Amino acid sequence: MSWIRERELSFIERLTANILKAGPMPKHVAFIMDGNRRFAQKAHVQRQEGHSQGFEKLAETLRLCLNLGIHEVTVYAFSIENFKRSKEEVDGLMELARQKFSRLLTEQENLEKHGVCIRVLGDLTLLPIDLQQLIAKAVVATKAHNKCFLNVCFAYTSRHEIANAVKEMAWGVEQGLIKPSLSL
Ligand code: IPE
Ligand code: MG
Repeated sequence: MSWIRERELSFIERLTANILKAGPMPKHVAFIMDGNRRFAQKAHVQRQEGHSQGFEKLAETLRLCLNLGIHEVTVYAFSIENFKRSKEEVDGLMELARQKFSRLLTEQENLEKHGVCIRVLGDLTLLPIDLQQLIAKAVVATKAHNKCFLNVCFAYTSRHEIANAVKEMAWGVEQGLIKPSLSL
């Protein structure tokens, strides 16, 4: 399954997209992956299949975002909290990530066509080394693309994100890019 699902939009999708495009379009949209296991239970399929189909939905969603001209998408895929799940489930998710990042490396033409730059955010040192290497390759392979940006949060924590945002703001103030105080 490709990262950006190459499929013609249905009539209803095209109609909805055109209506949405007529109004203001957000520049950046974020998605939190959720409900994969509940879906699996409801559909009477294995949990891992639920995660796999969750990824397929994401690929479909990314296709729609591209079509709508949304410049940046952030996907919250796997949090540090998620490491507390059973070893079997965590291993399954790591394997899914391995498959998807390997697949991404074979799809460079498609990513280049759409100008998609992939960035992976989180404490990647917590991931198996082979997965870290695959992610690094995918990030390097797409780093020059600049039409749209896909941020994949993997092994993320809100604390890490907030700390980073504050550090960046402090840097911005130091560099004179941001005013130290807001004039109210
Ligand atoms: C999202 O679905 C996938 C991950 C967080 C890895 P869940 O696994 O949280 O599925 P539910 O919410 O328990 O159904
Ligand atoms: Mg959940």
